Amino acid sequence: MNPVFGFANWADGALQVPGLKVSETKLSQLTGIFRDQQAWKRLDPETLVYRVWWWEPVPPGTEGGLFWGLTEIQPGRVGNEYFMTRGHWHVIRNRAEFYGTVAGAGKLVLMNRGGRTWSEDMSSGSLHYVAGEVAHRTVNTGDVPLRFIACWPSDAGHDYEVAGGRGFGVRIVEEQSAPVLINATD
Ligand code: PA5
Ligand code: MN
Repeated sequence: MNPVFGFANWADGALQVPGLKVSETKLSQLTGIFRDQQAWKRLDPETLVYRVWWWEPVPPGTEGGLFWGLTEIQPGRVGNEYFMTRGHWHVIRNRAEFYGTVAGAGKLVLMNRGGRTWSEDMSSGSLHYVAGEVAHRTVNTGDVPLRFIACWPSDAGHDYEVAGGRGFGVRIVEEQSAPVLINATD
């Protein structure tokens, strides 16, 4: 393999790498993700919820390779539920991943194969090891963008089957100006 290298701005996570990829997820694409569907319909469907920039130094599916990405989740809520990523399992279930928070405040919601769900607080500098066999979703509970870096195996893949309905078993909502974890009832 030819040598490849890039740059990350450690202050904000911004990447300068060959062939940088980017995806944007708007509210209109998050059908059935938030609990309050009426509130979701009232919001502008063009509202940007999160962006991901990532670097694929090897083709997706390569065994033994790694990818590097930056996610930025905007602050906001649908009803009282904070903006969040869709959330996923890895297609190859035993693939793990590192997350590291660059800026903002949030929660990483995790669920194992048995359906046990828990969360970890995200703040500047927090490092999170997402073990294999664990579904994961990130939630911006602050009032500025939540930015975190991620490093994951290039053959992990994303399986979004867990994203909708009660998928994660819990939701992160604002109650009395603070984030709380509640059981998902629908
Ligand atoms: O690989 C990861 O876990 C992250 O880069 C996520 O894909 C990113 O945060 C966006 O979340 P999702 O893929 O659940 O939409
Ligand atoms: Mn992942």
